[in-house]
Amino acid sequence: MAVGGFAVDGPGSSFKGKITVSVVITCIVAASSGLIFGYDIGISGGVTTMVPFLHKFFPSVLRKAAEAKTNMYCVFDSQLLTSFTSSLYIAGLAASLVASRVTAAIGRKNTIVIGGCTFLAGAAINGGAANIAMLILGRILLGFGVGFTNQATPVYLSEVAPPKWRGAFNTGFQFFIAIGVVAANCINYGTAKHTWGWRLSLGLAIVPAIIMTTGALLISDTPSSLVERGKLEQAKKSLLKIRGSDADVEDELAELKRSSEVAKAAHREPFVTIFERQYRPHLVMAIAIPFFQQLTGINVIAFYAPVLFQSVGFGNDSALIAAIILGLVNLGSILVSTFVVDRYGRKFLFMEGGIQMFICQVAVACVLAATTGVSGTKHISKGYAVLVLVLMCTYAAGFGWSWGPLSWLIPSEIFPMKIRPTGQSISVAVNFATTFVLSQTFLSMLCHFKFGTFLFYAGWIAVMTIFVALFLPETKGIPLDSMDAVWERHWYWRRFVRGQPEH
Ligand code: BGC
Repeated sequence: MAVGGFAVDGPGSSFKGKITVSVVITCIVAASSGLIFGYDIGISGGVTTMVPFLHKFFPSVLRKAAEAKTNMYCVFDSQLLTSFTSSLYIAGLAASLVASRVTAAIGRKNTIVIGGCTFLAGAAINGGAANIAMLILGRILLGFGVGFTNQATPVYLSEVAPPKWRGAFNTGFQFFIAIGVVAANCINYGTAKHTWGWRLSLGLAIVPAIIMTTGALLISDTPSSLVERGKLEQAKKSLLKIRGSDADVEDELAELKRSSEVAKAAHREPFVTIFERQYRPHLVMAIAIPFFQQLTGINVIAFYAPVLFQSVGFGNDSALIAAIILGLVNLGSILVSTFVVDRYGRKFLFMEGGIQMFICQVAVACVLAATTGVSGTKHISKGYAVLVLVLMCTYAAGFGWSWGPLSWLIPSEIFPMKIRPTGQSISVAVNFATTFVLSQTFLSMLCHFKFGTFLFYAGWIAVMTIFVALFLPETKGIPLDSMDAVWERHWYWRRFVRGQPEH
């Protein structure tokens, strides 16, 4: 066992590095929960630009667009419309906080199933929406759904994966988010031509929900969660299944029982425990990582790409194609992360991705400033538009192998068992809260700051890259139950964790 050190394959723990067919299938099935979050991200951007949808639910947006002599940065600046999109994030925020209780009480797997069913109900209501009330109710249910699945899935993956390859397995979640985004973009491309297209786009969200819910029903819960809930026999079975029937799982089981006993002996409310001084480093990461992820500006780029290409006269179709290209690049780059994250580590990817995204954001700002002018009313030539697309793709690749998957991975792997669900909940809540604030503000920011918006995000990327370099310890290959060692060795965080009773 590698307690206190960085080696994974100490005597007695070699099984922890073994990849079995069963663990691969289990993790792919669990990771597919990312589909529903991705589908929603991809579908809502497109639907809110469909004229029949706006005509039925938000006629004022259409009136404003017709009257305004807008520059290209201000075309979609409507608070009402963004509040439709972001209502999901508020609901998700509340649900993710409740989800830590639910995952602790009924397990990771069951929480994923509940999330899938709630999302399914929301999708059905949205597809059949006859008025705004139904639309909002549907979105709230979708939000509850992703609040649950985004909380439970990364924890599930980190607990089930062999520690040596935990990073790779965990990137599966972001991979499925990206598949959901691309699928939704393609569907929007097909449905945008029809008056009822928005209904189909929204209603089809039941498909990813059915896929992931059915999958989740077929997998067993994580050994940690089963031990925590006193189901020792089932925990052993689950371990044998994922580690291989010939594996010696006794050591790992004993370690889980030990962690669970420590957790039970604490008798404290996890939301109180997590604020103890010894967990300060963990808490800071659970808040900072998702906060920074949103400040990379990924959702702004994703939203802005079609608007930009439309405004330079590429037409509606090519605008959506630009979005699909971006989505595909993002998808491919996550696979790079899958192969690199456990070999070169999390920090390497954060650094490389950060520098790449920073350069691209600054370059996009420069090209836009030079070509469209400060007012944003001059037209940018197709050649420059293609250059901007290339820069945005390079940016999306940087995000896809760094902040995209790693923002789900880090919070799910740094906490001790007793506060792991709580830490992940806080992290998801911060992700949703930041997405909400940014989506409420970025359209007016784009309208006022114009190309400066990209410099704003570039500045944040510089800050977060320095933050990671200084404060994030490397967690590659370390078993979850030995994770305390990384803080004890860290030049800054060790003062918080040293001399604390064992957790
Ligand atoms: C982020 C989302 C983003 C998506 C893009 C996720 O990790 O949390 O905000 O839209 O990646 O693929």
